[in-house]
Amino acid sequence: MFMGIDVGTSAVKALLMDDTSAIVAEADIALSLSNPRPYWSEQNPSDWWDATLQAIDLIMRENAGALAKVRAIGLSGQMHGAVILGADDTPLRPAILWNDGRAKTECDELEAALPGLPHRAGVVAMPGMTAPKITWLQKHEPDIFAAIRTIMLPKDYIRLCLCGEKATEMSDAAGTLWLDEENRAWNDDAIAATGLRRNQVPDLFEGSDPTGTLRHELAERWGMDKNVVIAGGGGDAATGGIGAGAVTHGAGFISLGTSSQLFVASDRYRPKPELLLHSFAHAIPDRWFQMAVLLNGASCLAWVAKILGENNIGELLTRTEAQHKKPSDLMFLPYLSGERTPHNDPYARGVFFGLGTNTNREHMVQAVLEGVAFALADAQSCLHAAGTYCELPGVIGGGARSLYWTQMIADIMGTPLARYKGGAKGPAFGAARLARLSVRDGSIEEVCTPPAIEDILKPDQNRHEQYQPRMAKFRRLYDALAAEFQ
Ligand code: XUL
Repeated sequence: MFMGIDVGTSAVKALLMDDTSAIVAEADIALSLSNPRPYWSEQNPSDWWDATLQAIDLIMRENAGALAKVRAIGLSGQMHGAVILGADDTPLRPAILWNDGRAKTECDELEAALPGLPHRAGVVAMPGMTAPKITWLQKHEPDIFAAIRTIMLPKDYIRLCLCGEKATEMSDAAGTLWLDEENRAWNDDAIAATGLRRNQVPDLFEGSDPTGTLRHELAERWGMDKNVVIAGGGGDAATGGIGAGAVTHGAGFISLGTSSQLFVASDRYRPKPELLLHSFAHAIPDRWFQMAVLLNGASCLAWVAKILGENNIGELLTRTEAQHKKPSDLMFLPYLSGERTPHNDPYARGVFFGLGTNTNREHMVQAVLEGVAFALADAQSCLHAAGTYCELPGVIGGGARSLYWTQMIADIMGTPLARYKGGAKGPAFGAARLARLSVRDGSIEEVCTPPAIEDILKPDQNRHEQYQPRMAKFRRLYDALAAEFQ
């Protein structure tokens, strides 16, 4: 038995996977997000830990016998977040997250100081990443900066709580701008450029390596063996890839979670920072991936449902689909939290364009779904420009539950998409697979198999063509507004 824990943005998810790779128990504990100032996005690391304890306690209530058989725990987490720890390893302030936009100036300064950085770090400096936030802290919260003992990533903070070790692994270190992606080692120049020393970041492992064992008091609390291994795990993009079997060159998927990504695994490091792609180390040795990252995904649907006072998203989607006759006249730019690929613009914001007296709530929802799909098509164009193709991406994440939305995405992107049997398993499942690899139970090829396909959604050529003028208008709208967002 293996456990996977994903420290997400909207929830902590824990699951138990048995020796046949079947999921036998799952628990989700919701998290809230704090936006104390414009462009800021923060969470308290103690909330992640409380939610992790609650999720495992919940699993224990129904599955005490199964917990006793757990051999290893794998961790997955939202990437890039800066967890800032002081002398006694407690957080000095709330963590600054992946969708925080405060550190744009610091990105420019970092790139000026280290001109080769994007090619070594796999991506241009963007405000969501860890390093520029530390430079921001040095300028704006110098007392906290001076008191830093260690900077950790979100899931690695949970590792510290679980086993007392300060460790990270390649795929999450990949999102800090401090990793030399090709050589899978810390880049000391980049660490020094943010005013830190090497001993202020954790040691590096592979995601499929053991990094420690569960603390005795926690093993007792959950009736687990005292030798339970804590595996390296991965950033949520990489663990999504491990769960979706995207481990061989060209295998990929689309994640439609709070954020969305187009992810394609690679047999070597292929940086394309000029296209605003992220080329990162994978969570298993000797593999990398290229990824287009959208800061907004199913979060846009959750947002529109909330402001419309709609509690039942499934029902809202059914009504929207029933009214959907043709591409919407209304347009939505989905940049509620800014955007990375293809704009690197933390200041971009959401836009409804073309509201009329006849606009109703279902029109607004259709426009939101289309807006995210247009952004995914933009992201796909960046990958294609890099020469990166994925034959049949699967769709994972909360948004994958909607057949209506995934078919619309296939139509707009002009790409067939696979839906997996049993739904999308996601990053927590990938983390459980890394747990399995950490106790050397099977090879990567045996453990990281692609999920069985439920159906393949082929793009409808007519609808694809109908959407083309809308897609062009979507791009023109952002171009026309870009200067206004500053
Ligand atoms: C990836 C990214 C987001 C977060 C979401 O680069 O920033 O997808 O990892 O949790």
